[in-house]
Amino acid sequence: MKTKDPRIIIFSGKGGVGKTTVSAATASLCAAQGFDTIVISIDIAHSLSDAFQLHSDLHNHNRGKPLKICEHLWMQEVDIQEELDHHWKEVSSYLAALLGSSGMTEVLAAELAIIPGMEDVISLLYINQYFIKKTYDVIIVDCPPTGESLRFIGMPSTLEWYINKIFKWQRNLFRVVRPIANKLVDAPIPEDSYFGAIHDLFLKLEGVDKILLNREITSIRLVTNAEKMVIRETQRAFMYFCLYGLVVDAIIVNRLFPMSLENGYLKDWLTAQKKNLNQIQEIFDPIPIRTINILKEEVIGLEKLSEMGRLIYGNEDPSKILHQETLYEIVENSDSYFLNMKLPFVQKDYVDLFKEKEDLVVRIGSFKRHVFLPRALLNRKPTQAKLENNVLSIKFAK
Ligand SMILES: Nc1ncnc2c1ncn2[C@@H]1O[C@H](COP(=O)(O)OP(=O)(O)O)[C@@H](O)[C@H]1O
Ligand SMILES: [Mg+2]
Repeated sequence: MKTKDPRIIIFSGKGGVGKTTVSAATASLCAAQGFDTIVISIDIAHSLSDAFQLHSDLHNHNRGKPLKICEHLWMQEVDIQEELDHHWKEVSSYLAALLGSSGMTEVLAAELAIIPGMEDVISLLYINQYFIKKTYDVIIVDCPPTGESLRFIGMPSTLEWYINKIFKWQRNLFRVVRPIANKLVDAPIPEDSYFGAIHDLFLKLEGVDKILLNREITSIRLVTNAEKMVIRETQRAFMYFCLYGLVVDAIIVNRLFPMSLENGYLKDWLTAQKKNLNQIQEIFDPIPIRTINILKEEVIGLEKLSEMGRLIYGNEDPSKILHQETLYEIVENSDSYFLNMKLPFVQKDYVDLFKEKEDLVVRIGSFKRHVFLPRALLNRKPTQAKLENNVLSIKFAK
């Protein structure tokens, strides 16, 4: 039995930037350093097994369950259909019946009976269990593209809201009305076992929000490319993770063109890349930034993945927490919002604030930072800024 709490590292980023590859590379290196490591994919379009180059029959045999890849290393592609069929029969059969009663074919109803976000819930459930049982030293989560990762992260609070505000009265209400309603209403009324199954699910999820918010345990690593549109999405994701109170402990810039190509066909790409890398610095400083060049071929198979791991982390422990603070926090009082941001230095100077497109740009001396404004602040004017103990507090009147 392990004594130390597992470490959880969540990889998120735009589609196609290299999340799965970087997750698998990080996991391979953790395992090579002797940590029992599992990498879990919660993207419905799984590609972990391709990254590890697994034979499909081996993988099919084990669908949805942890699969050992080599010493200290496991992978798991959460299979939502399998989970619903085996563990949440009450939930899926009720939904299928409900959709079926709307005139849909049975096949389509079964397909649609997967509740949006269910894969997030199931993944959280596994993470919670592995954490509590200390099954692994390191749990690596390969997230779906950004928007869905944000939903994943928000899921514990959504569930808590649902259980407190909706679930209890709904269950009680159905207990009372079921006998009559069954005769009056066309649509099927859920059995109490349906609510029972959901209640069990909640019990198994209990505590997962605290685990994700614990900075000694969980951190997010954002994978990006040095391209404008990708950076924009990374910036947005970064702000939202901060607002949830989650720590981003590294930005991994993948697929850079090597500078040695500067005089050839890719010249213009390289000029833009340099500029964009500077911007990445301005956005994320002081969060550690790691870069990886585009490699000569696809990064497939354990050997290439471990090699990529070494390119990212060198001889460092990849499971180490690389940074422990969130940069932004929004505090609200009756008449204003305060956007508080940590700054990497102490020096007091003239603070210059201006809006550039949808960003707020903060300039203090030679320091400049681009801040993605969350929607609530976007159309408000910053009215005051105060710098104290390395925290710049910007007031936005309501
Ligand atoms: N640094 C790199 N050099 C070469 N190929 C890469 C690199 N990073 C990722 N790839 C390749 O790009 C493809 C997409 O990467 P993947 O990790 O699946 O992206 P995502 O999970 O973000 O959608 C894969 O074929 C992968 O092998
Ligand atoms: Mg992927």
